Amino acid sequence: MLLQIIDSINGIRQVLKTFKKSNFQIGFVPTMGALHDGHLSLIREARKENDVVAVSIFVNPLQFGENEDFHHYPRPFENDRLLLSKEKVDILFYPGKEEIYPETFSTSISIKKLENKLCGKSRPGHFSGVATIVLKLFNIVKPDVVYFGQKDFQQTVIIKKMVSDLNVDTKIKVLPIVRDKDGLALSSRNAYLNNDERKEALCLFKALTKAKIMIDSGVTISGEIVNEMKCTIKEYKLARVDYISIVDKNTLEDVEYAKSGDVIALAVKIRNTRLIDNLIIPSLLFILYTITLLLKDSI
Ligand code: PAF
Repeated sequence: MLLQIIDSINGIRQVLKTFKKSNFQIGFVPTMGALHDGHLSLIREARKENDVVAVSIFVNPLQFGENEDFHHYPRPFENDRLLLSKEKVDILFYPGKEEIYPETFSTSISIKKLENKLCGKSRPGHFSGVATIVLKLFNIVKPDVVYFGQKDFQQTVIIKKMVSDLNVDTKIKVLPIVRDKDGLALSSRNAYLNNDERKEALCLFKALTKAKIMIDSGVTISGEIVNEMKCTIKEYKLARVDYISIVDKNTLEDVEYAKSGDVIALAVKIRNTRLIDNLIIPSLLFILYTITLLLKDSI
């Protein structure tokens, strides 16, 4: 099927209605465009698992603060369209701002507690904006399965909570972070980095690697791990830490001792570009398995 580009809510509802009548399973990947391999990994999984794949591109003004990059956010529509065609996506929902937020729009979703932690501290209102657009998109598309990337870890926790609290009849799948060869997590905002900044951006991955090494060697005190991560980042001249936290994967509360399943999350500004990354601490079994594999290879 050729990619259909639809810009109206009625239009996409009409098209999806016929698929739903035939009991087709609908997979959905909401995005803000500027697609990279991270998005493509979600789209490919959706393609494998569903009869119909819908992707949305909408740069959501509600999730940007006043001094943030809404106006500069990359919008390479033609490139995105080609990528989606190549991945055999069926439907691209590409609405304008008026279609989504008419002048009279006045509702917002708030996920108490969770929205003010981690990134929420320096981006007030961001997660309320995310939850509001995501719920709107869920109500428009009514997907069976929706795909998100683990890079936006807090976003995935908040969306899962909203889906559970509001009984949204959709399955949420979270797929692993996709990284460049050197470890930098893919993000549409990486496009802002010049050569020097791109080199410095590696500090997030370096700090997470440092944390992993410490945990593998038996360190569990969160404060110690976070301090070492801060030291790693201090070596990078253009980097300024926003936060580094080790948190419970559901409540996002700081944990005193890091254990498997907890999440190490950080946000760092490289000059004007704010980047995030995270690591879910693997289970001991997984660590032992990796060590066994490594030993096997070295024999
Ligand atoms: O992760 C994103 O790209 C956005 O936050 C989302 C989920 C598409 C909502 O605008």
